[in-house]
Amino acid sequence: MIPETPSVLIPEKEIRHRVGELARQVSADYDKAEELLLVGVLRGCFIFLADLSRLLTVPRRIDFMALAAYGQNAATSGAVRLIMDLRTNIAGKHVLIVEDIVDTGNTLEYLLDILLPRKPATLKTCVLLRKRERLEKDVKIDYLGFDIPDLWVVGYGLDYADRHRALPYIGVVENEGKGISR
Ligand code: PRP
Repeated sequence: MIPETPSVLIPEKEIRHRVGELARQVSADYDKAEELLLVGVLRGCFIFLADLSRLLTVPRRIDFMALAAYGQNAATSGAVRLIMDLRTNIAGKHVLIVEDIVDTGNTLEYLLDILLPRKPATLKTCVLLRKRERLEKDVKIDYLGFDIPDLWVVGYGLDYADRHRALPYIGVVENEGKGISR
């Protein structure tokens, strides 16, 4: 059984504080840029992107990509497929990828591999959560919210079997999370 109420790993207040810090940092760094294009990676990014984008003080546009891991297993298989591409032509634009979590790094590596050849002016990454222990790929994260332990985390956009995405905090799915990760 999935517990109805996951235990709290990062409280709502701490997320709000950290997202505010990230927004200030991003706003300062892109102060001179004409415009920033935020690229949200669906589905997990939707709450982080909504909060971050509203706190930025620089001109910005928003577009989305949807990706999924191949296979039905909860454990990440490594292969990633593109479900929905950007509508925007990113050539010459300042692009910031917004991700909820980097686990193995496969998804972010795949994204960078397909976006870089499109010749953006700059391409950076903003990630709320990273699991250092699980990293397989040496992907560069320019803005990071939190390093977290290797637990199955849910809430603030992240799911377990499509549940718990709307929790206001980052929680941990206790028993079912053992032996699987994301
Ligand atoms: C999650 C997350 C990242 C990816 C990270 O997506 O949103 O995109 O896993 O894992 P990786 O670093 O091992 O590649 P998920 O496949 O759970 O889809 P979702 O965002 O639609 O929930």
